[in-house]
Amino acid sequence: MQEEQCVELAGQLMAVRARGAVPMAVVRTYGCQQNVSDSEKIRGILAQMGFSFTDDETKADLVIFNTCAVRENAEYRVYGNVGNLKNLKREHPAMLIAVCGCMMEQEHVAEKIRKSYPYVSLVFGTNLIHRLPQMLYRVLSTGKRVFERGAETKEVIEGVPVLRDREIRAWLTVMYGCDNFCSYCIVPHVRGRERSRQAAAVEEEFRQLLAQGYREIVLLGQNVNSYGKNLEQPVSFAELLRRLDAVPGDYRIRFMTSHPKDATYELMDVMAQSKHICHSLHLPFQAGNNRVLREMNRGYTREKYLELVQYAREKMPDITLTSDIIVGFPGETYEEFQDTVSLVRQVGFTALFTFLYSPRTGTRAAAMDDPVPHEEKSRWFQELLAAQEETSEKNSPGILGTVQRVLVEEYNEKRGLLAGKTEGNLNCDFSGDASLIGSFVDVRVTESHNWVLKGEPILTK
Ligand code: 5AD
Ligand code: SF4
Repeated sequence: MQEEQCVELAGQLMAVRARGAVPMAVVRTYGCQQNVSDSEKIRGILAQMGFSFTDDETKADLVIFNTCAVRENAEYRVYGNVGNLKNLKREHPAMLIAVCGCMMEQEHVAEKIRKSYPYVSLVFGTNLIHRLPQMLYRVLSTGKRVFERGAETKEVIEGVPVLRDREIRAWLTVMYGCDNFCSYCIVPHVRGRERSRQAAAVEEEFRQLLAQGYREIVLLGQNVNSYGKNLEQPVSFAELLRRLDAVPGDYRIRFMTSHPKDATYELMDVMAQSKHICHSLHLPFQAGNNRVLREMNRGYTREKYLELVQYAREKMPDITLTSDIIVGFPGETYEEFQDTVSLVRQVGFTALFTFLYSPRTGTRAAAMDDPVPHEEKSRWFQELLAAQEETSEKNSPGILGTVQRVLVEEYNEKRGLLAGKTEGNLNCDFSGDASLIGSFVDVRVTESHNWVLKGEPILTK
């Protein structure tokens, strides 16, 4: 059946089942920005089918959980939340429950849903969002459960409608999937091989977003630095950035995530020379010890990482750096973990995303010996947080008194404060009125607590 027909027919069938005048959907998102962006597509498709949206499951005709598989905690939460819908489904049998995203691309998880959660009607994988109308139509017209998975696709689907959550900042995916196979990571298994969008398609969406009034565009990919390698006419990520930066206007570009193995000096040069690219870089190093890095299959050393950071700082003295870290990788010793702590002290990050290692079925690390008990790893984790706190306290005063260009995103009525982000991606609050949302305001920083800033606007005549 034609796609448009499915949109219409599935929409009609949903409208008949709906409790209210129009079918209502809840879309819950777990995990990273890529999932946030995927959920915006899911909402875009549902809106086209005639859905409105709510945050209240008791009012919903359709509930979709867009799941994350990166650590087991995220998975437990999903099982808990799907389990909580059992009674609601009994009260409203016409309500449909769907689960999608990274978790569903794992065979054993899809099986668990099939067996233990019989009231889930639809399961679909990360690369099948565009097929939502067809899949819903099948569920609705046959009354049978539908399971579709497909991480192995080579396709890049364009033209999926998007209903964006925000008005000032927009996500723009430049590449899908990941080929790195870091030994701890499930992502390549659940999101499939690397596929880049055509540069022209990225640029067109970028221009559209600016025309719609977006002021901050965040380019997304599991590893943006390997963008364009597999295109018929290869384009490097640095080159893509250069092209986007040349589009005129008053706006900002950010991007994530950069893999230190693929981040280039050219990238730093383009950032330093650009007009619109923020001097802020999320560059996960994961572990500070070379043996552990090798076991993780990261493809760089501590020394190479430090060289990159040094080059970035030379070119952009104002750059802010953030990182992801895994504590307690299988076989990591306390001495090796100390190399992570020392790297944190040495670099001075504005924020860290620290995780206890979590074994993921099917990854290489899951089969490795993991002798250090959980309680001990938790102590290491606390030690790392303490080191980071000390470092931020040490670094933070440097920002006091400086003038930061803040993009205003929200007005908090209760506190009477505007909230936005500095170029370095730090939150900054200051007083002002809601009419400033969406504008850039120069703010003098008067307070800084763990990199959360307060300031006073510098009023221009
Ligand atoms: N256990 C713990 N943390 C993990 N991450 C990825 N896989 C795992 C895992 N198995 C972390 C990495 C990555 C971030 C998104 O999640 O630090 O950069
Ligand atoms: Fe994002 Fe990875 Fe979680 Fe998937 S598994 S939602 S790609 S963090």
